Amino acid sequence: MKLAIRGDLLDFSATPTWGSTALDGVRWRPDHWLLVEQGRIAGALPGEQPPGEDWQREDQSGRLLMPGFIDTHVHCPQIDVIASYGTGLLDWLDTYTFPAERRFADPAVAAAGSALFLDALLAHGSTAAVVFPTVHKVSAQALFEAATQRGMRIVAGKVLMDRHAPDGLRDDVAGAEADCEDLIRQWHGQGRNAYAVTVRFAATSTHEQLAMAGRLLARHPGLFMQTHVAENTDEVKWIASLFPEARSYLDVYHRNGLLGERSVLAHGIWLDTHDRALLRDSGAQIAFCPTSNLFLGSGLFDWQAAIDVGHRVTMASDVGGGTSLSMLRTLAEGYKVQALRGTRLSAWSALHAATRGAAEALGLAGEIGSFDPGSTGDLVAWDWAQGTVAGHRDSVARGAVRDLAEQSLHARVFAWITLGDERNVAATWVAGRPLWRRPA
Ligand code: GUN
Ligand code: ZN
Repeated sequence: MKLAIRGDLLDFSATPTWGSTALDGVRWRPDHWLLVEQGRIAGALPGEQPPGEDWQREDQSGRLLMPGFIDTHVHCPQIDVIASYGTGLLDWLDTYTFPAERRFADPAVAAAGSALFLDALLAHGSTAAVVFPTVHKVSAQALFEAATQRGMRIVAGKVLMDRHAPDGLRDDVAGAEADCEDLIRQWHGQGRNAYAVTVRFAATSTHEQLAMAGRLLARHPGLFMQTHVAENTDEVKWIASLFPEARSYLDVYHRNGLLGERSVLAHGIWLDTHDRALLRDSGAQIAFCPTSNLFLGSGLFDWQAAIDVGHRVTMASDVGGGTSLSMLRTLAEGYKVQALRGTRLSAWSALHAATRGAAEALGLAGEIGSFDPGSTGDLVAWDWAQGTVAGHRDSVARGAVRDLAEQSLHARVFAWITLGDERNVAATWVAGRPLWRRPA
């Protein structure tokens, strides 16, 4: 019930200044005990002042302790097709993804796939996620059950798709509405589960289904909404032909009442200024998915334009279009995408977007994303380095190598992000319970 973990504590108390490596908003407490009581963060003590004997102590000295990462867009069934060769978005869906998702109609496949997926998230250092299962009601059911067993914070919902998908992967408006109502009743607000009205993308829902999705959101305040938007130029053209009445791809969602503070839209590469202002005014967020955008050749997300307009951006793996569940890999590729756009993504802006920033964008700050007292004890112990090269680089950044010493926290953390991955995860706790440890 009372757990104290010793390590280098890193989290955010506010939003770091964009484009700056200064420590504003960064809460850095090297060699501290993080106190977790009844599953919640209770405070911190300097390393030389351990809490009393009634606290169970765990020594992770020399490791980085951070709030668990929040992956704001990822597909549970697509572990089966991660790293599939040779296609862009629309062909990739037809060739690999849709056949794999059909298997989740089987409750046994959905249960095993959900367990594999959530355990993999934990092993990669992510403790919360906004997740697409499949069109099948049973796939959402299985995901919520597996999340409940682990006590994880999951936002998910049955995928809506009533056209432009193969047999075995389509629903219909009335059946989908009834399934959503059942799932909302059973899961929304139950434990740490929340329901998201989940429109796959505009192409796979009829006008009638999009309108139904908007009615669900209006009927149940507090629901989330998740979808894809403006990922790929062929997709954008297709949407324009399917919805000639809409000003833009994003406008299709706006017209149907799908944009709000709890809306998570993946990608958002091919947006214009008007769209970005609409995102800002509605409070919706773009989930930036760099490994997916590079792998599928979709394009380079313009984060600077988002900053200029002032809409929210969070970080997401988008597995299986994305190539890793590791948020470190995701952030490192995000840096490279922004470098190609002529902008530098600081370690602080990147990490904030994957922790406190995501929690704020989801309306879940206070529960996840930081070590604020009262937050849930979802946290990860990370090795600063794995392997010879990363180890040497970390020594330089720590100032331990003569003549090369950088001794800047940003340099050290940036090298950790750039060189690290799931091999750096030593242990993951959810609500103060250790749910994953690296095998000895
Ligand atoms: N657009 C519609 N469905 C998908 C999907 O499964 N993955 C990605 N990356 N984009 C999509
Ligand atoms: Zn996706």
